[in-house]
Amino acid sequence: MFEGLEQIAADAILGLMAAFRADPDKHKVDLGVGVYRNDHGDTPVLGAVRRAEEALIAEQTTKTYVGPAGNPLFNAEMEKLVFGPAHAALKAGRVKTVQTPGGCGALRLGADLIRLSAPGSVVHVSDPTWANHVPLLSGAGLKLERYPYFDPATGGVQFGAMLGALEKLPPRAVVLLHASCHNPTGADLSQEQWREVLALVRRRQLLPFIDMAYQGLGDGLEPDCFPIRLFCAELPEVVCAVSCSKNFGLYRERVGALHVLTQDAKSADAVGSQLVKLGRGMWSMPPDHGAEIVRRILADHTLRHLWEEEVGAMRRRIQHLRHDFVAQLKNHCPQHDFGFIERQKGMFSFLGVTTPQVHTLRSAHHIYMTDDSRINIAGLRNQNLEYVATAVAQVLKG
Ligand SMILES: Cc1ncc(COP(=O)(O)O)c(C=O)c1O
Repeated sequence: MFEGLEQIAADAILGLMAAFRADPDKHKVDLGVGVYRNDHGDTPVLGAVRRAEEALIAEQTTKTYVGPAGNPLFNAEMEKLVFGPAHAALKAGRVKTVQTPGGCGALRLGADLIRLSAPGSVVHVSDPTWANHVPLLSGAGLKLERYPYFDPATGGVQFGAMLGALEKLPPRAVVLLHASCHNPTGADLSQEQWREVLALVRRRQLLPFIDMAYQGLGDGLEPDCFPIRLFCAELPEVVCAVSCSKNFGLYRERVGALHVLTQDAKSADAVGSQLVKLGRGMWSMPPDHGAEIVRRILADHTLRHLWEEEVGAMRRRIQHLRHDFVAQLKNHCPQHDFGFIERQKGMFSFLGVTTPQVHTLRSAHHIYMTDDSRINIAGLRNQNLEYVATAVAQVLKG
């Protein structure tokens, strides 16, 4: 049966990881992999996670199934975290939340729900968008199209072109939006721009599908939710995929949630029942361990305070690195303006160098990034900012 299958090339990022591991150079820098790193280059278990996990292990008395919608207390905590506890949509019973295996599980489940409700739907994603959006959404049977988004000339959003493209979409077209810390560009919309997108989405009757994978790593835990809270206050229907991988550092535990806002509580119940059925057909039940850790952190005053501090420290480290890296680049390549790196948010930015220059950075300077020059800012360290800036200056000189 399988003899006709072709061997496909490994994911570029996996090849990059292997090449980095095999590089014996002591100055090597990994800016490729999309995980948060501290100044020692580690991705540690957060203190709040460690404490919640210890308590969980001490207190858990069974490993029996939890249920296809996941841990209901986790779902309730996530609703409060994402929407704010007093959000009118929650009070009206218009939000259905299902725990998912990571943000990817939420994206896939949301895509399946859309296909079930409106087969043949087209999802419009930003150009560029996170590479895994393509298999996750198209794997569910949705068609993908792109709207203009990133402007390499400014490092910001081509907002006029974006609105122009969305304005032409037919009613019920699905628009995938990154809530904050756009991956891969770091270019986010301002609150004013979100309001304009909201007005357009309402006028054109589009369905927003909001992906939030970096809550807390942009402007803060609350401001990063701005588009979700705004859209869910003003629109009849919104789909939100949320990941706990980055802000809780729970990557391998696979923790996420899908929140679906519907017109009324009756539709929310119907959607909830469909989500459970779709989930049963894919993973049956989401894994509980990480979700229970998140629930304990969010529900416990002390652990929550510790976690908020830890997320704040991650965010501030990224902001400082952006600032200091731009200062170093200014010193070493004064003829190039890298100021956009400081204006962008979250873990990623495009350095804006060519693919051959990316290859030279790798071969001559042991600095690893994907061919499109996306860098993980958190992969930088205070002690190598100057090394990286000098190397960039050298490749730019040619
Ligand atoms: C834009 C975006 N969405 C969703 C995810 C989902 O991540 P996970 O499935 O690991 O929670 C990621 C992770 O890198 C991401 O960058």
